[in-house]
Amino acid sequence: MTTLSVRLTDSPADDATRAALLADPGFGTLFGEHMVRIDYREGEGWGPGSLEPYASLSLSPAAMVFHYAQAVFEGLKAYRLADGGVGVFRPDANAARLNRSAARLAIPALPPERFLEAIDALVTADAAWVPNGEGQSLYLRPLVIATEPALVVRPSREYTFLLFDSPSGAYFARGVKPVTVWVSEDYARAAPGGTGFAKAAGNYAASLVAQRQAQEAGCDQVVWLDAIERTTVEEMGGMNLFFVLGEGADATLVTPELTGTLLPGVTRDSVLTLARDRGLRVEERRVTMDEWRATNADLSMTEAFACGTAAVITPIGHVRTRSDEFRIADGEPGPVATALRADLLGIQHGRLPDRHGWVRRVV
Ligand code: COI
Repeated sequence: MTTLSVRLTDSPADDATRAALLADPGFGTLFGEHMVRIDYREGEGWGPGSLEPYASLSLSPAAMVFHYAQAVFEGLKAYRLADGGVGVFRPDANAARLNRSAARLAIPALPPERFLEAIDALVTADAAWVPNGEGQSLYLRPLVIATEPALVVRPSREYTFLLFDSPSGAYFARGVKPVTVWVSEDYARAAPGGTGFAKAAGNYAASLVAQRQAQEAGCDQVVWLDAIERTTVEEMGGMNLFFVLGEGADATLVTPELTGTLLPGVTRDSVLTLARDRGLRVEERRVTMDEWRATNADLSMTEAFACGTAAVITPIGHVRTRSDEFRIADGEPGPVATALRADLLGIQHGRLPDRHGWVRRVV
């Protein structure tokens, strides 16, 4: 039984309008018809919340989120299953990470069962907005923002949890074509003791000039190095990185270890698990730019790719820095990235056995 009060839209889109919008949804600009809202007040805790029509918010200009960026968010997806139902991929992992992020920003935890209740209610209400295509999904965006109108610098005493959805196709307009990356030597994403492990809105604000610099250098995405020595590879944009050394039965999958400055990606964790299921050797460890260059030069690096909820798995074709540029293997998607992407999408769409209990069936 949901504790949310329910008010459904009284003007739902007709089937033809919805079908036209879902034909080519793009990423993150089309929104569903409902949202969940749960308010928090210090001393009272989280309120009962509501499922309501998707609509703009009314907030004071003094709401603390606008000034001191007390805001955390998540991203997860509901997929159309092979039997026509709808499943959400690993929402429990996102519920847990939201609270780890919240703790870092002095935001109160939302009980995971409230998070899952919100997911179930929203996906059920907007089930018709889950696209049918391979790799398409209903992208779910939960967030918590500080809403108390107050300009003193301290944690807010009021918050709002919101959950809305966005029918989505590929995150990168060019699909799974390999990207060219720019290694940022001017900017850092996260420093020890900072908020790198949290999905804090401010991390993304601070990444934008580096991403713009990458584009000015003719690249698609920025690769982040560690903030102290600028030698260790950490992430690509908002995604985690993987490298394949060797090939076939000798392949080893390597990913930067979680040091506190990296985001612990749910897709990263899923890729590690699926790679082990496939019998691949897996290493979570430090990877330096020197190693990346050397293993690429002696051809022991056979693939590099990035992963995240939005784009799933994206191969890296070329790497550019201020001083050099190199191509990864033949610059095309490799067999490991291709196989792991197929495994992941197969489970997400309910075509492959869900051996790890990752899919929460909602419809
Ligand atoms: C992801 O899902 O990979 C991301 O973090 C990107 C998202 C912020 C759009």
